[in-house]
Amino acid sequence: MSGVSDSVRVIVFGRQGAGKGTQCARVAAHFGVPHVSTGEILRDAIARDTLLGRAARSVLDGGGLVEDSLMISLVQGRLGEQDARTRGYVLDGFPRTLVQAVAFDEMTAARPAHCAVDLEVPRDVVVARLLARRREDDTPEAINHRLDLYEAQTSPLIEHYRRLGRLRVVDGVGTQDEVFERVRATVAASLG
Ligand code: AP5
Ligand code: MG
Repeated sequence: MSGVSDSVRVIVFGRQGAGKGTQCARVAAHFGVPHVSTGEILRDAIARDTLLGRAARSVLDGGGLVEDSLMISLVQGRLGEQDARTRGYVLDGFPRTLVQAVAFDEMTAARPAHCAVDLEVPRDVVVARLLARRREDDTPEAINHRLDLYEAQTSPLIEHYRRLGRLRVVDGVGTQDEVFERVRATVAASLG
């Protein structure tokens, strides 16, 4: 396991409901780094009715994507904070488009992510998980829209990080403990 002075920098993507939030929280706690979830940041902004929250509310309700420039500056700001600069991060939900990925690669060029984890769970399995969870944006229409957007906008990131040699595909089907062990081992192996 990494020492306190080493940083661990991981991005995680995968279909909505793949278990990113569940696993990122555990991985972040395990390696002692901040869990940065763009979805959580947006939901928090909506709950506090900030300017960001007002801009994001209808987008989240409809299952769409918040515009790239807003998300990029939000993440750049968060990764610039002291904890992320010194310890690293487990980034959950970003990048989610190729534009975001290119911006992310540029902003982290000096210290790139150790790996990009693709948490792979088939579409029918994630639909069942999301309908059971009942978060506010988990209506059948919004779920389907989010999954269509995933295929169109986020799955190209798999090829992008494969070309960069940083992609690690992890099977996300199994118990939460089984999946955690796979993700933990994958991240540990990528730290070199
Ligand atoms: P976000 O919060 O990131 O939502 P999401 O991508 O739709 O993914 P979820 O949080 O729904 O799923 P998850 O993979 O985290 O799974 P979870 O662990 O919850 O984003 C929300 C919205 O914000 C987006 O739709 C978009 O509008 C906006 N947004 C965010 N980032 C953005 C960006 N970069 N650009 C533009 N817009 C952005 O697990 C799901 C369920 O399954 C849970 O109930 C869990 O208990 C259960 N579960 C987990 N693991 C297992 C397992 N192994 N077996 C069985 N059940 C399991
Ligand atoms: Mg999540």
